[in-house]
Amino acid sequence: MPAPVVIQFSRPEPDIGLLVFNDPQKGANVLSSAVLTELEEHLNRLENQNKNPGSKNGEKEPPLAGLIIRSGKPGSFIVGADLREFVASLDAPTEQTEVFCNRGRRLFERLSACPFVTVAAIEGLCLGGGAELAIWCDRRLMADTPKTQFGFPEVKLGLYPGWGGTARGSRIVGLAGAVEMVTGGESVDPRAAVLMGLATDMPPAERLQEAAVRLIRAEQRSKDFEADRLRWRQPLEVNGTETMFLAATAGALIHRQTHGHYPAPPAALEMMLEGAELDIEAACGLEAEGMAQLFGSPVNRALLNVFFLGDRNKKDPGVARADVRPRPVKSVSVIGSGIMGQGIAAANLKRNLPVMITDAAPDALHVAVEKILEEASFNKQTRRPDPERAVRCAALLEATTSDEELAAADLVIEAVVEIPDVKRRVFARLEPRLKPEAILASNTSTIPISQLAEGLAHPERFCGIHFFNPVRKMALVEVIRGKQTSDETIATAVAYAKSIGKSPIVVNDGPGFLVNRLLLPYMAEAVELLLDGAEPAAVERAARSFGMPMGPLLLYDVVGLDTAFFAGRVLYEAFPERTVISPVVGSLIKAGRLGQKSGAGFFSYARDKERGEPDPKLGEVLAPLVRGQNKFTTEQLTARLILPMLLEATRVLEEGLIHDARDLDLGLIYGIGFPAFKGGLLFWADTLGCDKILKMLEPLTPLGPRMQPTPLLLEMAKSGKRFYRSGP
Ligand code: NAI
Repeated sequence: MPAPVVIQFSRPEPDIGLLVFNDPQKGANVLSSAVLTELEEHLNRLENQNKNPGSKNGEKEPPLAGLIIRSGKPGSFIVGADLREFVASLDAPTEQTEVFCNRGRRLFERLSACPFVTVAAIEGLCLGGGAELAIWCDRRLMADTPKTQFGFPEVKLGLYPGWGGTARGSRIVGLAGAVEMVTGGESVDPRAAVLMGLATDMPPAERLQEAAVRLIRAEQRSKDFEADRLRWRQPLEVNGTETMFLAATAGALIHRQTHGHYPAPPAALEMMLEGAELDIEAACGLEAEGMAQLFGSPVNRALLNVFFLGDRNKKDPGVARADVRPRPVKSVSVIGSGIMGQGIAAANLKRNLPVMITDAAPDALHVAVEKILEEASFNKQTRRPDPERAVRCAALLEATTSDEELAAADLVIEAVVEIPDVKRRVFARLEPRLKPEAILASNTSTIPISQLAEGLAHPERFCGIHFFNPVRKMALVEVIRGKQTSDETIATAVAYAKSIGKSPIVVNDGPGFLVNRLLLPYMAEAVELLLDGAEPAAVERAARSFGMPMGPLLLYDVVGLDTAFFAGRVLYEAFPERTVISPVVGSLIKAGRLGQKSGAGFFSYARDKERGEPDPKLGEVLAPLVRGQNKFTTEQLTARLILPMLLEATRVLEEGLIHDARDLDLGLIYGIGFPAFKGGLLFWADTLGCDKILKMLEPLTPLGPRMQPTPLLLEMAKSGKRFYRSGP
């Protein structure tokens, strides 16, 4: 199939050229090799025409005064390079990557050397390679719309811009601003872009092209763009003290954010500081050289995998049948206005979905309404609730005690206390009043969905929608399929979760569903390690050095030891042969040490409410229970913590609990913060190979059934199979 034409040329005015990017086969424009070739051909022709003005319909076409680059897709300019092409060339030799970088950069560089003014007229997302194309233009305009953003997110893929973006960016917005954009990977909005000199102006979207024409005319009069062209080819004017200060402050910030696990941001910083003192050609050369070193590195591969996990999730309807359509969810009722009910209600309001909420306790409901509005109207920039937004949200929120009103919604989510009978009574009251197409869901974290469905007249319209705490921060939602849940119900729950900005994965009913089932063996093993003589601090350090956002003991304290104990019991009842119920957790609960909420758990929170400090009293609880005084290396600790999680993952796959192994990796990354730089639990296991994993398990098998290799692992090792059958 021939590549589609993506870039259309026209002349909105006789001396103004317009290149519109609009890939007919994609929802967003990306820069593939074919698109770069198209751009090259347009530039060749336009430059040539300017030298030898041609004629159209017998009339001479005037030379161009300016060229505008725009997108034909509302809300999206160009979102970056074609990552599928990236993946296909991950094994390419470094020299080839350098050639690829230099080719793209030389092409874009022509936009700053054409015999006419070039203007990127940006509306919507302008990211990565798209931002590099735009930054090589003489000028940028950014439409004043909420969707318009400019950014270099390459570090999120373990890379940095390689088409001249760092070198040119430093010259346009200054070294400090460019370092922040490149090493942080965050986008800027039009207002910030204008302030930092990245964009000349932020006209309304409908005036964008008109503003670009005006800008070209002004530049042709002032010739400012020519002066800038000369200036931006030179080394930057930086003074040594400033550079040293930037190196120290940005370096410290990067270390705090990456903990040394992500090589791209520190490499970008070092390269940009060096490049600032060189002319643009040399700086770009340095950039291409460094980018080639990062390309194809283990972290780059892992992060690309995470990107594709997210991308796949966005497109996954949650059911295999193509003929199943989700039902529209235009209103939601939430039963129970505790921590979770509030979070769920606020998440709906943020996306303008009307919410009815109730609670058995009128006081709780009253307090909840205030908290929901506070959260739903929270403005991240000002770091406080936005009164205007609060008024809008208040109009969408209704607290009620009427079952009729609650049952009128398209979706009813139950988030009452975790007691099966209480939940069942709620369903028995509401189900007969529901509309025939409405869906009933439970946010239970541990009770089997099929068990809750017993007694329902329509179990096919019932499922689990398991949000994670805190709802505002956690993107993951587990959609739990009960034995009788229909495909329509699953597809509707998945589409609904996406509509409020979440990333749902579909999990068959089972103890602990997916995430808790994998998390608890890891947490329980941390306690076992303490009994074998490991120091709490060493266990925490080992988990963090693997990349976990916090150690497993701190996690116990955050979740609450009582909650963790209860969840552990659910797994113990289902899998008694391999689930460890440690007496330590029970003893700590008895001693009133429930974790952060009670001021002490594995750690003490007397002085620091969140981080906790070692507590000698823990030793007193542990002393009668400790059974060994072993010394462990970090590697041994990590193996003991992570391998039980991996073994449980292979059991989950054996059981067919999820329909795609990739959901498991996504679930752990989004649900517990499994390190993205490892690409996911199974992706990481593939980098080791099943043989190596079996070797790591060998010394652990005496610990019992929980450390025995599973049939799936043995079979995979024998046949040399991987968890990911194909690339990302
Ligand atoms: P919570 O204790 O904060 O809130 C429960 C609310 O339900 C209370 O306000 C209570 O008055 C109300 N309630 C009790 N019986 C009721 C009834 N018959 N009708 C209406 N309201 C009633 O509990 P939380 O933490 O919000 O948990 C709710 C559900 O979400 C539970 O099933 C829990 O397992 C699940 N969950 C909790 C998570 C967490 O971290 N807290 C995470 C994920 C799920």
